[in-house]
Amino acid sequence: MILAIETSCDDTCAAVIDRSGLILSNVISSQGIHDRYGGVVPEIAARHHLELVDVAIEDALEQADVGLGDIRLVAATQGPGLVGALLIGLSEAKAIAAARNLPLAPVDHLQGHVAANFLGPEPFEPPFLCLIASGGHTLLAHVEDRFGFTVLGSTLDDAAGEAFDKGARMLGLGYPGGPALQRLAADGDPTAFKFPTAEGVDGLDFSFAGVKTSLLYALRDNPDAPRQDLAASYQAAIVEQLARRTEKALEQTGIDRLAVGGGVAANGPLRERLARIGVTLHVPPRELCTDNAAMIASAARYVTPLLPGAYLDLDAYATGQRAL
Ligand code: KG4
Ligand code: ZN
Repeated sequence: MILAIETSCDDTCAAVIDRSGLILSNVISSQGIHDRYGGVVPEIAARHHLELVDVAIEDALEQADVGLGDIRLVAATQGPGLVGALLIGLSEAKAIAAARNLPLAPVDHLQGHVAANFLGPEPFEPPFLCLIASGGHTLLAHVEDRFGFTVLGSTLDDAAGEAFDKGARMLGLGYPGGPALQRLAADGDPTAFKFPTAEGVDGLDFSFAGVKTSLLYALRDNPDAPRQDLAASYQAAIVEQLARRTEKALEQTGIDRLAVGGGVAANGPLRERLARIGVTLHVPPRELCTDNAAMIASAARYVTPLLPGAYLDLDAYATGQRAL
C-alpha cells in the first residue's frame, strides 16, 4: 500500500493505492476560502493545509480500510507549486515515514498529472502525448514510459486555466472561472468575436496573453454586446489553441494516442474538440484530472524511494523540475 499526500496548491489531498494502481481512497479537501479573494492566497493555503492534512490522511486510511501499519511507502508532492503549501505535505510525509522507518518517494506534480493515466482499473499505456492544462500549468508532454516525460511545449505566459479565470473575472463571474465561463458560453455564439489563437508563436509553445487582452478591448469597445457571445468566443479561442498545438505535436511525433490532465480537461468544448482529432483519446475521470493524491501515489511507484535518514532535509521546489 502507498500513502500519498498532495498539497501543492489549495486542495489538501491524501490517497491510498496499491502497487497495481488500484485506488483504495482518494480524499480531496477543498479549502473553499480563496473564492472571495479571486485567487489562491499562498499563505492562507498553507495554514489551511496544516489544519486539514491530518484529517485528510485519517479519512484516506479509514476509507481504504487500512492502518498506518499496512503502508509500505509514503509519497508527497515535492514541487512545482506554492512552497509554503508544499512544505506542509512534505513535512507530514517525512514525519509519518521517519516514525515508521518507511521509505519516502518525492513526486513531481506534473509527473503526477501524467501518472493519473496509469491508475486502474483501465490504465492507459505509453507511448502517448499528454496535454496538461490547469490553473498553474499548460504543457504538452511526450510520455514514452511510466518513468518520466519530455516537455514538447509549455506556456510562455499564463496557464490555460488562468486565462479562463481571468477572462471570467473580466466578465464579472466568480472564481474558479472556468466552469462559470463554460456555463455562460453555453448560450453564446462562439463565432461572434474573433479572438487570437497565438498562431504567431513558433513551435509547440502556448501563449494566452493575446486572447486575454483581446477580451479586455472587446468588452471596452462593445459594452452592449451579449456577454454569453463574448464568453463563447473567448472559450473557443482558448480551446482552439490547445487543440491545434496538440494536433501539431501528434503530427510531429507520429503518435496517435492522447491523454489529458489538469482542471481545464473538465471543459466540455475542449473534450469535444480533442475527440474530433481522431486519435485514441484517454480522459481520466474528473477527480483524477484535477489535483489529487491518487495521481501522486501512482507516480510514486516509478520513483526511486529515499530510505529513512536520506529524506529529512529534502526541500520543496516552486518551479521547474526536481533538483536532486
Ligand atoms: O488542476 P486544477 O484543479 O488545479 C490546478 O490549477 O492545479 O485546475 C484548476 C483550473 C482553474 O483555472 C479552473 O478555472 C479550471 O481548471 N477549470 C476549467 C473548468 N473546470 C476547471 N476551465 C475551463 N472549463 C472548465 N469546465
Ligand atoms: Zn495540478
